[in-house]
Amino acid sequence: MARSKQQKAIAPVKPRPKSPRAARVKVPRRRVKAGRARGAEHVFRIMVLSGPNLDRLGRREPEVYGTQTLEQIHHRLAKLALAAGAEVDCRQSNYEGALIDWIWQACDEGYAGILINPGALTHTSYALYDALRGAGLPAVEVHLSNPDAREGFRRRSRIAPACVGRVAGFGPDSYSLALDGLLARLRQ
Ligand code: DQA
Repeated sequence: MARSKQQKAIAPVKPRPKSPRAARVKVPRRRVKAGRARGAEHVFRIMVLSGPNLDRLGRREPEVYGTQTLEQIHHRLAKLALAAGAEVDCRQSNYEGALIDWIWQACDEGYAGILINPGALTHTSYALYDALRGAGLPAVEVHLSNPDAREGFRRRSRIAPACVGRVAGFGPDSYSLALDGLLARLRQ
C-alpha cells in the first residue's frame, strides 16, 4: 500500500551511525579522475590514522608538536597525495577500538597501505600491533616528535614490528615524508 504524504512526513529520521570523531579528508572523485587522466596508472588509497590527543594539535604543547592543526596536516597530505596519484582517507580518534576498526576496514576495502600515528598508544598497544599484523597492509609509523629523544617510556614502540618503516621528528612533514616512502614502496 502506498504511503500517504503525511505518513512520510512523520516517518522517523534514521540516526546516522555515530562514528568516533573522524577527520576525514577525501579527495573528490573528479579530482582523482583528473589525476588518473594526467597519467597516473593506479590511484593508491591510503588510510591515514592518528590516535589520542592528536585532535589537539596546534594548541597541545606547540613547542613539541608545532602549531599546525591536524586538519591542516590532513589537507596538505590530501594535496600531495593527489599530485602523486594517490588518495588519502584521514581519520583521528581518541579510542583504540576505533583505530583497530579502521585498520581492518582498510584491509577489507582494499586500501593499499596505512600511515599511522597512534600517539601514546604507540608505546602500549598490543591490540594495534595485532590489528596491523593481521591486516597485513604495508604500514608506516609516523610521529611529529622524535620519541627516541624524549622520556624513556616513549622509546618503545609496540607497533614497530608490524610496520615497514617509521618517520619521526620532522613535525607535520613526518606525515608527508611517510606518504612518499609508502608510495615509493608500493610502486616497487
Ligand atoms: C607522538 C609521540 C607520542 O609519544 C605521544 O604520546 C603523542 C604524539 C608524536 O607524534 O610525536 O601523542 O605520537
